[in-house]
Formats: sequence, C-alpha cells, structure tokens
Amino acid sequence: MSELNKIALKILSNGKGILAADESTGTMTKRLESVNVPSSPENRLLFRKTLFSSESMKNCIGGVILYDETIKQTTNSKQTIPELISFSDGLPGIKVDTGAKVLAGSPEEKITEGLDGLRERLKEYYKLGARFTKWRGVYNISNDYPSKLSIYANAHALARYSAIVQECKMVPIVEPEVLMDGNHSAEVCLNKTSAVLEKCFEELILHNIDLSGIILKPNMILAGANSDKKISGEEVAKLTLKCLKQNVPSDVPGIAFLSGGQTEIEATENLNLINKNNDTNFIMTYSYGRALQKSALKFWSKDTKDIKGTQTIFNHRANMCTLAAQGKWSIDLESK
Ligand code: 13P
Repeated sequence: MSELNKIALKILSNGKGILAADESTGTMTKRLESVNVPSSPENRLLFRKTLFSSESMKNCIGGVILYDETIKQTTNSKQTIPELISFSDGLPGIKVDTGAKVLAGSPEEKITEGLDGLRERLKEYYKLGARFTKWRGVYNISNDYPSKLSIYANAHALARYSAIVQECKMVPIVEPEVLMDGNHSAEVCLNKTSAVLEKCFEELILHNIDLSGIILKPNMILAGANSDKKISGEEVAKLTLKCLKQNVPSDVPGIAFLSGGQTEIEATENLNLINKNNDTNFIMTYSYGRALQKSALKFWSKDTKDIKGTQTIFNHRANMCTLAAQGKWSIDLESK
C-alpha cells in the first residue's frame, strides 16, 4: 500500500467524510453577508474554528479542506488551525487552485487556473501540515456545453495539478464539477458527466498519476435545478452508480461527493441511497461545503458567541452525513 493510498484511506474510512471549508474570501464574504455577519478575518476564523473544535470532528470528519487564509491562522491559545484539526485526528487539506477564469476560445465556459508556482506553494503548505489538496474544474450544461475544449483543457489542468501534488507527497482531490444549473434532464447530466470523467481519467493516466492515491470529488447525477423532470433519490443513486462504474478505474480508493446546491437533507438522502446500493469497491462518502455548514452558519449568525449551540447543529449534520456514508441514515433520525 502506498503512502498516498494510506492517506486517502485515513480520510475516507469508517464512514468519515470531508468538511469543505475552503471557500475563498470572496465566496465566504457572500455567505457571511447573506446572514448579516460582517466578513472580517476574525469572523471567518471564529466560525471555522467553532466547527473544527466540534465533538463530531473525531468520529465523522477525516479531513478538512482549508483556504490559504485559514491554514495560516492561529487560535487564541496560539494553536495553528492544522494543529486544531489534527487534535481530533483529522487531516488538514488545502485548496490550491486560484479559481475558474474565462476560457479563452470558449468565453462562456471556465478554465481553472493555478499551475504557475504550484510546486513552491505546495512545499509551503506541506510544512504547514497539509496532507491533501483540492482543485476544482467547473463545467456548465447546455445544448453546446460543456464543449470538447473545456472538457480537454480542464482535464489537462487537473492531471498536471495531480502530478505535482503527488510529487510533493500529498493526495490530490480531483474535482470535476458539472453544475446543476439549468433545466436539463438527469439523462443529459449522466451523459455530460460521463464525458467529463472519461477525459479526466485519460489525462490522469497519461500523466502517470498513482490512482490509488487520489480522491475523486464528483457531482451526483441529478436533473437540472430548473428542470421539471426531477427524479427520485433511488434514480439519483442508480444513475450516479452507473456513471461511476463506467468511468472510474477500480484503483481509485474513494469517491467523496460535493453537495453542489442540494439541500442538506437531499445531499444526505442521496448519499445514503448511493451507499445502500453500492455494488462497487469504492468508498462513497461526502466532501460537503454548504450541506454541512448551512444550518450551523444560520444559527451562529444570530449569536456569534453561542459556540455550543452552533456546534450542536454542526454535530447533528456531520453525524447524519456519516450515517449516510454507511447507508444507515433514515429521515426519522433527523428529528431525534
Ligand atoms: P458544496 O458541497 O457546497 O458544493 O462545496 C463543495 C466544494 O468543495 C465545492 O468546490
């Protein structure tokens, strides 16, 4: 077993998942302002360290993805944020892309940037405690999109990123996110996500990536957010499993889904059904941002000093997701 494979398994095993707390300062500012909290470095730190010191971190959260600002912050007792995460046996991770920019040649699409100087940044992040990384490619669905160009260009970037990350002894999260915006059917999402994943793995293999030392972070197969052809959770699970079985090489140890705008309950229910029907060897778990934090953020915004109350909300969500990662969740547990 390679060292990278051990790291991936430590993050994902035993029903554990990933807390994606790597919102850029711009995105975090929007999230905080939406609940009327000023976005200062102190407030961003306070909310995040409230989550990272919650009880559920120990049994539920195998890894936390941080943003550049957070990995360099310290708590009042001078503990670094990576130390706080490691205290509950989680591994610190870091978002290393520098964002999705207009794709020259197809300006309605995006290409993710951040390869320049990446090796040097990774060395610094490793010293700060990071053991895994994230890079998100983003694709929109319409009749013409994602184009072949965006599928090729983002797959190439994801593979070049993964190669440098593995060289620096960290596990790359490979995140090709096909957005749920639009009125497309789930069938269209299935076909377009399949094309994206197929190209990603072709490039990862070309770049000699150790597939046993990556984590795939894909979208689930859903009908578009504005589609009138919504499908059941059972259908979501069936189509998602079909897509992954067809396009993900069996060396990949685990798949950690993004929530992508699903509600907390939808994201939990769908993950649970995927696990109940999981006939693959892949670990199927969560790497949620909004679906782990939304209720906790809302509660916290009403009284930012109520740390215990905020943690109670977060603990519940993390426990529900960890049950779903084992196919043991049911809706009646939500009200207990
Ligand atoms: P969501 O779960 O809110 O989609 O965020 C996950 C993530 O890391 C997006 O890059």
